[in-house]
Amino acid sequence: MSRSVSIYVCQSCGAQTRQFFGRCNNCGEWNSIIEEKISQKSDKSFYTKINSLKEKSPYRSELISKTKNQIINRIPSGYHELDRVLGGGLVPGSLVLIGGDPGIGKSTLILQSATAMAHKRSVLYVAAEESAQQVKLRWNRIDNSESNLHLLAETDLELVLKELNYLKPDVAVIDSIQALHDKNLSSSPGSVAQVRECSAALQQIAKRENISLLIIGHVTKDGMLAGPKVLEHLVDAVLTFEGDRFASHRLLRGVKNRFGATCELGVFEMQQDGLSEVSNPSELFLSKTTAPGISTIVTCEGTRPLAIDIQALLNSTSYASPRRTATGVEINRLHQILAVIEKNMNLSLSRYDCYLAVAGGLEVEEPGADLGIAAAIVSSFKDIELEEGVVFIGEIGLAGQLRLARQMQQRINEVIRLGYKKLIIPEGIDTSEFEKNKKIKILKATNINQALMDALKNK
Ligand code: TYD
Ligand code: MG
Repeated sequence: MSRSVSIYVCQSCGAQTRQFFGRCNNCGEWNSIIEEKISQKSDKSFYTKINSLKEKSPYRSELISKTKNQIINRIPSGYHELDRVLGGGLVPGSLVLIGGDPGIGKSTLILQSATAMAHKRSVLYVAAEESAQQVKLRWNRIDNSESNLHLLAETDLELVLKELNYLKPDVAVIDSIQALHDKNLSSSPGSVAQVRECSAALQQIAKRENISLLIIGHVTKDGMLAGPKVLEHLVDAVLTFEGDRFASHRLLRGVKNRFGATCELGVFEMQQDGLSEVSNPSELFLSKTTAPGISTIVTCEGTRPLAIDIQALLNSTSYASPRRTATGVEINRLHQILAVIEKNMNLSLSRYDCYLAVAGGLEVEEPGADLGIAAAIVSSFKDIELEEGVVFIGEIGLAGQLRLARQMQQRINEVIRLGYKKLIIPEGIDTSEFEKNKKIKILKATNINQALMDALKNK
């Protein structure tokens, strides 16, 4: 006899309980728990039947080496920077989720790309957040050439699915998934259950009709994508669009990508007539001035090397415990670097406030920036400018030893391309190839003391 029992499943994290809670005990999400009925009928006879079968050949599995290769004809998004993050263009039938803070330019980016793609393909733009007039106004600002771009201002999921089924476009944009709603569900648009149902329905139609879907998603206060985690699992790629609200550049990052590398970075600049691509981003983050406390580093975002300036300011403190602030670098990393400098270089930094900032509002997470950060700090402390045209790359260990960063070749090439004269890096890499044409002098150091003394002594 079958018996059905209820379990309560959190739609955000998937935790299961026997009892209903207004807030998930596991992830802390409110109103995310819904009841699911499961049947406890155990069909023993089915398994005994299977056991007694003597199959001669496999049912549907095949050797992976014999599985046919499918040629993917990616759809160019119209922007190299977007293509780079997507891994070379949109894959037909794939789902791409784009998240970002409100007002950062998600709708602008996707409308621009949709317009560009619509010159060669049919594209449907579903505006669930804005009226057709509002989208038209934006479109007038960016690119109002004739194209095959359809616009549908609708929030009802059923009508959106009908339109997709009728038009069968190559690409469809949903702006945004949180504004769509399925009228069969009682919860309000944007709730966990709504987002889950809407995205699942969209996925089905996208896979069936081979439509590439670009879905815009909201982010929560802490910058996470709003809605259930299933949304992120369901889509093929998750991109985040970020930037400083006070600066004009915007960064597009790949967080997940089934068809390409993650951590890729695309750089755009918001202008009067929409977003324009920045193909040489290093120039955006370099201040091109020399002063005590400014150093240059090359970090690597995905496969893309990026030269940026680090600024440090050390001031004798008037507080009992010195102030330390870091913008664009994790504060713990700064504390660690300060401690290593203090111990290894014998500088009494504990009597100084330290302010550290990455130029241009960029976030630098990777440890390859350590040496450049240390150079800026020591330069500000001693009030001596660093040698002109010198770049630092390297990670600092707790004992003051230097370690190589990943993708050194690409970084060194970028340093040479930008015309820097000197590079200070850790030991352990053969650089004779780069120094052949005498354009750059590469100095290798084993520890922080050696690296920084060299950069400061020539002044
Ligand atoms: P929008 O794409 O609406 O952001 P999102 O969809 O992420 O909420 O863009 C919002 C901002 O971009 C808005 O504050 C105005 C600015 N903007 C420009 O500076 N230039 C332009 O050409 C456009 C279309 C927008
Ligand atoms: Mg928008």
